[in-house]
Amino acid sequence: MKSIIVLCVGLAYWPTNYAAQTPGPETDHPIIIERPHSPVELGDLLLEYNRYIGPSIDGQVTVALSLHLLHVAWSNQVMTATFFLRQSWTDSRLVFTGDHDVEVPTRDEIWEPDTFFPSAIETKTSAAATERSLRLAPNGTATRSARISVVVPCQLTAAAIIAHDGRVNCTIDIGSYGNSGVSQIKYQWRRDMSINYGGLERIVKSAANTTSLVRVATGEYSKASALIELQTALTRQVLDYIVLKKSDL
Ligand SMILES: *[C@@H]1O[C@H](CO)[C@@H](O)[C@H](O)[C@H]1NC(C)=O
Ligand SMILES: *[C@@H]1O[C@H](CO)[C@@H](O)[C@H](O)[C@H]1NC(C)=O
Ligand SMILES: *[C@@H]1O[C@H](CO)[C@@H](O)[C@H](O)[C@H]1NC(C)=O
Repeated sequence: MKSIIVLCVGLAYWPTNYAAQTPGPETDHPIIIERPHSPVELGDLLLEYNRYIGPSIDGQVTVALSLHLLHVAWSNQVMTATFFLRQSWTDSRLVFTGDHDVEVPTRDEIWEPDTFFPSAIETKTSAAATERSLRLAPNGTATRSARISVVVPCQLTAAAIIAHDGRVNCTIDIGSYGNSGVSQIKYQWRRDMSINYGGLERIVKSAANTTSLVRVATGEYSKASALIELQTALTRQVLDYIVLKKSDL
């Protein structure tokens, strides 16, 4: 028994890499007729706009989230995930007349939630124009999409290899850094397609979404979590094989 435990600990640190990829970004974007928006018009809208103050009606702003997984890998007790994160909120100061969404040019800065990934060891947000966008609908709903990579701790124990055949639940937490400009940013998962992992079924076995409130010294924070169940390469069969090999020696 002792030797099994020692082996399992060794196994848990085995560099394994299970990866799969989908061809492209979100497919559920509304079809938008590309018509360049007059920067003068948006400039007018932002004339007396203060981007340090949030679009709060009652001190709170609700940010709807959806996450489209593009790539997931597990190795050495961490999960690396690359996804498009889409955040939507409504800012009544940005209501305009028109029937199309417009792209907000980077020079026209508007208030945005100070979203970060509290449990991540590493975060990379793509700065490429093709992998980031900020759109504004006539009703004042802003949608920020960005391609993001995070590395989060995700422990697979020997007991879990045996109990779940190498499956492990990894969590990506999403929260606000300091409720900037409002009393509280409240995260909510979109009702439909909140977590999309189409094309990654070989490694992602299920996904679940939750939200909660976290109380810390500096205030109350809303947190959204994406729970991703992964199939690692460390299955019971692999474990048995190694144990048998070892006893042959
Ligand atoms: C604003 O418009 C967008 C799309 O144009 C729509 O998805 C959203 O539900 C609208 N929001 C409100 C608060 O009416
Ligand atoms: C992961 O979480 C889901 C939902 O909570 C649960 O049904 C499943 O059994 C968990 N998987 C593992 C490997 O613990
Ligand atoms: C997100 O959570 C809601 C409510 O708990 C559930 O109805 C929905 O199916 C979930 N979506 C995903 C992708 O897990």
